Amino acid sequence: MYSKEVMEHFTHPRNVGEIEKPDGVGKVGNPVCGDIMHIYIRVRDNRIADIKFRTMGCAAAIATSSMITELAKNKTLEEAKRLTRSDIAERLGGLPPVKMHCSNLAADALRKAIEDYERKKPK
Ligand code: FES
Repeated sequence: MYSKEVMEHFTHPRNVGEIEKPDGVGKVGNPVCGDIMHIYIRVRDNRIADIKFRTMGCAAAIATSSMITELAKNKTLEEAKRLTRSDIAERLGGLPPVKMHCSNLAADALRKAIEDYERKKPK
């Protein structure tokens, strides 16, 4: 039921792990299943210089986490904020409709990590 790209990212996820002393962290939980995703970012010159994730979740949640780290890397914060769950699903060759709620996590976690950075950065 998963596309080839989803299976590829699920079995070989990119950018797994944590960033030491990250500039921003986003944490979201999926109310439907109780799974949890963390996204860590390092920001340099208004760009996402590094990004990593830790996800306790299903294949769709892991594949979308992996894909969003690839899409967001080296983007400006404004560009990264505009990434949507449909951008991620499209790049993954689609997700089964029943799994779309899992793909919300990745876009939400990234947005929260950016908000966390913006809240903490010296004004
Ligand atoms: Fe929990 Fe997909 S079933 S994130």
